Amino acid sequence: MTALDIVIFGGSGDLCLRKLMPAFYFLKQQGKLPENSRILALSRGRISQNDFRTRVLDKLKIFLGASYDETQAQAFVQGVTYMPLDIPDDSSWDGLVEYLSPVDDRDIIYYMAVPPTLFGTVCAQLRRTGLNPANSRLVVEKPLGENQASAEEVNEILAASFAEKQIYRIDHYLGKPAVQNILAFRFDNGLIEHKWNRDHIDNVQITVAEMVGVENRAEFLDRTGILRDMIQNHLMQILCFVAMDAPAQLTADDVRDQKVKIVQALCPVTAADIQDHVVRAQYAAGEIDGRAVPGYLEEIDGRKLAATGETFIAVKAMIANDRWRGVPFYLRTGKRLSGRFARIVIGFRSQNGGTSRVIINIQPDMTICFDHEVITGQPTGDIRIPDAYEKLLSDVIAGDQSYFVRHDEIIASWQWIDGIRAAWTDLEMHTYAAGSMGPSASDDLLAAGSNIWYED
Ligand code: BG6
Repeated sequence: MTALDIVIFGGSGDLCLRKLMPAFYFLKQQGKLPENSRILALSRGRISQNDFRTRVLDKLKIFLGASYDETQAQAFVQGVTYMPLDIPDDSSWDGLVEYLSPVDDRDIIYYMAVPPTLFGTVCAQLRRTGLNPANSRLVVEKPLGENQASAEEVNEILAASFAEKQIYRIDHYLGKPAVQNILAFRFDNGLIEHKWNRDHIDNVQITVAEMVGVENRAEFLDRTGILRDMIQNHLMQILCFVAMDAPAQLTADDVRDQKVKIVQALCPVTAADIQDHVVRAQYAAGEIDGRAVPGYLEEIDGRKLAATGETFIAVKAMIANDRWRGVPFYLRTGKRLSGRFARIVIGFRSQNGGTSRVIINIQPDMTICFDHEVITGQPTGDIRIPDAYEKLLSDVIAGDQSYFVRHDEIIASWQWIDGIRAAWTDLEMHTYAAGSMGPSASDDLLAAGSNIWYED
């Protein structure tokens, strides 16, 4: 394996300590990190090497749980280096240049664990210092824009320093093993794939339910709302995997070409039909796990927020292609719902007028069931399911972009989302009790098509 340097901007932040370090720890255990690889964490603070390593070790103890092994963890942190970096300050980059030189005798992975407002400066500095050779890769994560125009700006910023084949846009749902299994389930299984179309499928439901509220992210969530926080990325990715045609080959671009075709085939939602396609809502006070919780407006009371962010959304999406014309794809996601789960339900038309279903559980269990019979996977018990970051980072190391989002897909998805937002100016903001599965209007959305949400 080629030698590898992993360089993390925002190296002392929560994402790095909570997700990236544990992922690299496991990859090292599995021999998926080249022997002579180095991990470099960069941040503005002035933390000593020792203090940083101790901090990583403490977090590993917490986040690895039963998988924590003192000897292995000690060995791992010895391979982690901390370096202070003040991103806008040119002279501050000398140390990094020296550390990485010569840049072309190893692979370099840059991870942007910093807010998107810093992407431009980091990319410009990497270009200025010549630290962006062809053997380097850049990993970025949402939010990648807040609408089509800003997403295009982000793409331009990245493209000014890196070629598309060097850019890995993470959507952590694509790293969930159960999401990755959708493609294998469909395309390795002739019988299923043969029936995977409008002649046999009546409707598709995708639900990502959360029990948490807005917590300390009220400012962000009130501004973006859950349409942009969850549907534009995670639920759209699941939708693409369910709906896409088989790629000619399982190459990254074949897979991504098929996904883009689905996003581009989504019927735009207009002001004239928004009522029949979208339900948005905010949670009111209620009960979660037997505990009384306040409503959204009470939670954000006292902060200077517009209070316009939806915490629940249900969307009926239609795909204008031969395979899916006329089949509703119902997408639903929300905070403070009655459970935490992600699930796809494929409703098949059956001969005798009833319905049979394939249920793909994404989390917490990872099973695929046909009318309640488990046909593959197992309830997530004592086996360790690799975290999404571990899966995705191992793909970045291997140079495989299949499960990363290409620039044209990002733009196409924003186009559809922007259309919804432009159309919904007069759409009612419903409320729902915390601990329920959303407002009754979400049931009405399906009732209009003689459907009901599948609930366990
Ligand atoms: C993030 C969203 O991308 O995904 C959060 O910003 C959400 O609002 C989270 O809570 C859900 O991810 P998971 O993996 O916990 O289902």
